[in-house]
Formats: sequence, C-alpha cells, structure tokens
Amino acid sequence: GKVGVLLGGKSGEREISLMSGKGVLEALLSKGVKAHAFDPAEQSISDLAKQQFDRVFIALHGRYGEDGTMQGLLEQMKLPYTGSGVLASALAIDKQATKRLWSSFNLATPKFAMLNANSDWNQIAKDLGLPIIVKPAREGSSLGLSKVTNVADLPKAYEMAAKLDRDVMAEQCIIGEELTCPIVGDGVNAQPLPVIRIVAPDSNYDYHNKYFSDDTRYLCPTGLDVSLEKKVQDLALSAYRALGCKGWGRADVMIDNQTGQPYLLEMNTAPGMTGHSLVPMAARAAGVEYADLVLWLLSKAGV
Ligand code: DAL
Ligand code: MG
Repeated sequence: GKVGVLLGGKSGEREISLMSGKGVLEALLSKGVKAHAFDPAEQSISDLAKQQFDRVFIALHGRYGEDGTMQGLLEQMKLPYTGSGVLASALAIDKQATKRLWSSFNLATPKFAMLNANSDWNQIAKDLGLPIIVKPAREGSSLGLSKVTNVADLPKAYEMAAKLDRDVMAEQCIIGEELTCPIVGDGVNAQPLPVIRIVAPDSNYDYHNKYFSDDTRYLCPTGLDVSLEKKVQDLALSAYRALGCKGWGRADVMIDNQTGQPYLLEMNTAPGMTGHSLVPMAARAAGVEYADLVLWLLSKAGV
C-alpha cells in the first residue's frame, strides 16, 4: 500500500509541521515503506482523493490539521489516519474547552480567564495573580504567547494573541519546573512514556528556544523524585483519557516549585516530530527509535 504523510498545512505552525513531516517521511522511506508527502496548503482536497493512499500519518500541527477538521474529512473518505479522532482533536486544540473538561475531572490545571478588548485588566490581575500568561486559545508552539508581569502590559499582550485567534486566554503562571509527558496507545492500553524536563535559557521555552536553540536542555530522566515523575505520568494519562485521545499525545505540565503540585497546561494530539521534538526523545529513552515509533503509530491508524 501507499502511505500519505500529511505535512505543512495552513496553520501558524506550518514551518514546524514541514520539519515533523520530513522526519516522518524519511523514517518511513528508510523502512522501505512507499510513502509520499501531501501538503493540504498546496494541494487540494480532491488531489488527496486522487493519491489513493491506504492510510495517512498526520504530521500537521495546529488548526486545519490537529483540530479535528482533517480528521473529519478523513473519516468521510474512510481513510485510516494516525492519532486522535474528531472530538478529542477538536477538544484538545481548544485550551478553554480542554481546561473546563479537565477541571470537571478534578485534574489540576492553572486558573484562567477569557479576555476581550473590554476586559477589566485589574480584576484579571487580581484573580490570577501576576505574572500572567496570555495566549491564543487555539495555537501551538508558543505562538502569540506572552508572560505579563505588569498589569499595564495586559492589553498589549491581548492584542498580540488576538491577531492569531478570536479566543484569547489569560492563565495563572505556574513558577517551577517545565515537564512534558507523552502518552501512547488507546483506552485501557494507553501508557505514559518517560517524562522529559525542559530547561530553557532564561526559563523561556518560546518558539525559538523550542526549535532553533542549542541552549535548551532536555533532561530524561528528569532528575526529579521518581514519585513526582510517577505523579506527572498519572496526571498525563488521566488527561489523555479524559479527552478521549487515541494513538498518541503529549501533555505539557508545570510543577509549582512552592507546593510540588503538577498542573496540566495542554494536550498535543499531533505532537512535534522534529529533530528537537520531545515524543521521539522520550521514546528513545524507552528504547524505541524514531522510525519504529513512526511505524508503530501508523500500525494503529484507524477511522
Ligand atoms: N505544537 C508542537 C508541534 C508540539 O507540541 O510539539
Ligand atoms: Mg501545543
């Protein structure tokens, strides 16, 4: 059969997706799989039907790829695809919906408020405490994100995020360790991979420090207490199950240094597969090489 690697796409994370997709494509080719790239930003939906793929690997990030819309199209086409289905993808792309859902399961996630141009900035600062993280509700890779330490800077941060999404969120800033935990598998068989601890220059794990810095350090094992790592893995697994994720995902977590409490930031349902990305790093720590991870994910593709 012929495998399609969906990459690029129309979101703000297009450049990252091109890197993820290239890695996935090369891995498949190295394993002798007949694989072809397909970029929904450059090729039309009718072109996709003409490719006669047997199944597809979704290496798209962000909207129009990771958000359930592509998954819905593939369902309509009866074309098996990797990762979560329509609902889990649509929920996970939306940080507001995700956090409300997690809260209903008593899973810890930082306090938040939705912003608009007429927000009462002082009240928000009072409710969430400074510093505050301002971000588009449905973006990835820290695009449009800012950390605000002064109330007077909130409107500017809002404007910046609002350029990328109509939904903008202010979130309590958890000060402490930055961790991520990938999950693989479905339902009762879902399991966490090793936790990775991220140490970014100036504690600023932004777009540049995510993909283009040689100074960001990734610790796996994390060097933290094993019991704390286990707590993070349990939380990530519960977060994955609450959303109804399938195939794979990656929960981003902060640990409050004062209390030791882990907080869920978000779930990525089509996580990065670039040379700097975290799921391949955690898989390797568990003894699974990049290409074998790709093959495994593809073997679990469904509709
Ligand atoms: N949103 C990026 C691709 C990630 O989480 O890896
Ligand atoms: Mg993300």
